[in-house]
Amino acid sequence: MNEIQKAAQLIQEGGLVAFPTETVYGLGADALNPYAVAEIFEVKNRPTFDPLIVHVADMRQAEILVAKFPDKALRLIEKFWPGPLTLVLPKSSLVPDIVTSSLPTVAIRVPDHPMALELIRESGRPIAAPSANLFGQVSPTTAEHVRKTFGNKIGMILDGGPCAIGVESTVVSFIGKEPLLLRPGGAPLEEIEALIGLVSVQVKSLDKPSAPGQLESHYAPKTPLFFGVPLGSFPIGKKAGLLALEKPLNPAPYAVIEVLSDHGDLREAAANLFAAMRRLDEKNLDFIWALPVPDQGLGRAINDRLAKASTKANY
Ligand code: TXA
Ligand code: MG
Repeated sequence: MNEIQKAAQLIQEGGLVAFPTETVYGLGADALNPYAVAEIFEVKNRPTFDPLIVHVADMRQAEILVAKFPDKALRLIEKFWPGPLTLVLPKSSLVPDIVTSSLPTVAIRVPDHPMALELIRESGRPIAAPSANLFGQVSPTTAEHVRKTFGNKIGMILDGGPCAIGVESTVVSFIGKEPLLLRPGGAPLEEIEALIGLVSVQVKSLDKPSAPGQLESHYAPKTPLFFGVPLGSFPIGKKAGLLALEKPLNPAPYAVIEVLSDHGDLREAAANLFAAMRRLDEKNLDFIWALPVPDQGLGRAINDRLAKASTKANY
């Protein structure tokens, strides 16, 4: 048996398998096995009101789990699957409540990674998987990141190298009259809107912080992170780190600098983001400054993650 066959067998037996996708590593279980899915919440320390994404290999498998596909959703599927776009759609009765936090909807996508697809096909099961990190922390983009967090607490970790996209999938909901962006991510909003017209962006509701996808603090390193442009100088004796798209004009105030892309490329920056955050977090800094990037393409997802990682929402 090869590694993927072993992992597929584990999934069938109700175990947990971490696996690579093109966005981030997922922590997967058989989506149709409520006990296995419950263990994901337990291991991640994730509140059960935050529903999971179900990963399928193709449209045929999606059709079993979804009650109805609106036209615009089908148009997006044609272009983006396999790929970093998750759709929230009315669920079929087959999807267990624990997967969707008892919502009448299911979040679903076809990942664009050969190992993920083979795992789904070989196990013959749809795989429910959140990102393979502890709740609220930075998502993993390498197998090593997953190993550091979960070690042998999970059945198996499949290693597919670093994730090509590096930020999570874009989540679009088709539950209301018009499509709604719940989370910017690997599929750029501009490309989505080019296909289906304007998509509203869900505004954070502070009175309902527990609504899915709307949790305020997320993707956070342990070191306090400030997101914005620093005004004035830092307190003397404090060690600051900088996370920026390109080299800063004045590097002097920073003990450590992480440049996300030498030539300001937002795709490259997204791919480097989470690993750079983890490296800074290991440097014993007093704080990290993260500078906003242009709010377009993958930049939207980068700014969203940095804002949610920040110690105060608007510093
Ligand atoms: O790229 C990704 O999406 C990665 C890889 C592993 O596929 N997965 C991922 O999962 O980021 P997670 O659990 O970290 O984020 C899933 C997001 C959450 O914000 C959750 O609230 C939202 O999707 N979500 C899931 N089901 C939903 C539903 N039925 N309605 C609304 N939002 C939902
Ligand atoms: Mg996550």
